[in-house]
Amino acid sequence: MSWRAHRKAATVISLSITLCALFYWQSNNIHFQTSSCGCGSCPKENEDEGSWFSKRFNASFHPLMSRNSSVLNEKASKWWKGLQPFQGQPDYRVVVEKLFKLIPDKEYYRDGSPDRCRVCSVVGNSGNLKNSHYGPLIDASDFVLRINKGPTKGFEQDVGSKTTHRIIYPESAVDVDNSTHLVLVAFKPLDMEWLINVFTTHRVKHTYTRVKSTLQANTSLIMVINPSFMQYVHEAWLKKNGHQPSTGFLTVVLALHICDQVKVFGFGANKQGAWDHYFERIPPSFKTGGHKGSFEYDMIKELDKRDQIEMYRGW
Ligand code: C5P
Repeated sequence: MSWRAHRKAATVISLSITLCALFYWQSNNIHFQTSSCGCGSCPKENEDEGSWFSKRFNASFHPLMSRNSSVLNEKASKWWKGLQPFQGQPDYRVVVEKLFKLIPDKEYYRDGSPDRCRVCSVVGNSGNLKNSHYGPLIDASDFVLRINKGPTKGFEQDVGSKTTHRIIYPESAVDVDNSTHLVLVAFKPLDMEWLINVFTTHRVKHTYTRVKSTLQANTSLIMVINPSFMQYVHEAWLKKNGHQPSTGFLTVVLALHICDQVKVFGFGANKQGAWDHYFERIPPSFKTGGHKGSFEYDMIKELDKRDQIEMYRGW
C-alpha cells in the first residue's frame, strides 16, 4: 500500500473513533459542564426552573445595599415604610446619601464562580445550642454569621468563637471587633439615621425603646441589608406571613444568596414553643412575636429537606 493510501486509512480510522466517542458520550448523557461553584457539591445548581426552591430564590435581588441598588420601587418603598411608621422619621433618600459618606459604597459578593467555594454558618440564638458541641464545626466555615446579641464568650464549645458578620438592628445592637462586618437590618429610615449617629453625633438615643448611642465597629466593614431584599424575603419566601421577616430568617436567605454552601445552627423554639436563648433564661411563655416563627422554621426545614442547607438541630 502506498503512503497516500496509509494516510487515507489513518484519517478514516481516527474520524470513526471520534464519531463513536461522540455517540457514546451523547447516548450516556455525559456532558463536560463546569460547576457553578468550586465546592464538591453546589446545591443551587441542582434546581430545575419550576422547583420549589427556584420559585422562591431570585438571584437578581442583591442583599447588601449599594448607592445604586438603594433606589426602591413603589411596592418595596410602601412595604418598608409601613413596617414601623411613626412621626419624625428622616427622609429615606437623604439618609441613604449620608450613610454612604460613612460606609463603603460597594457591590458585595458578586464573585460567584466555578473557582469559589464559600461555606457559611448561620448561627441563630436558640436554646437548642446548649451542650451541642457545634463550636469547631461552626468555626470551620469561611463566613460565620451571628445574629443580634448572641455571644460567643463563655459559649465557645457550643457556638464557636469566630464571627465574620454580625446582623443587628438598633434595638438589638452589640459592639463588634475590628475585623467583623456589622450588618444593619433597617426596619425604618430612623435605623439608618441611628447607624450614622452612633459614629458621629450620638444624638439618637431612643426609637420605640432605648438604643445604644455609641457603638464599637469598623465603619469600613459596615454593610446594610437592602430594604428591597427584605420585601422580597417577606413576599417570595414567607408569602407575607408575619408582619416582617425575623433577623434570623433574613440571615438564612442572605447566606443562600452570598454563599455556595450553607449550614444553619440555633434555630427553633423549645418543646414548649418558647423562643428560648442559649445564653440567658427567658420566661417560658415568651413567643416569637410578629415573625410567625413557626412558618419561618418550616421554611428552614424544607430547605434542609431539599439539601439547599444543612440544618443542625442540637441535641
Ligand atoms: O431571639 P433573637 O431574635 O435574638 O434570635 C435571633 C434569631 O434566631 C431569630 O431571629 C430567629 O430566627 C432565631 N431563633 C430561633 N429560635 C429561638 C431563638 C432564636 O429560631 N428559640
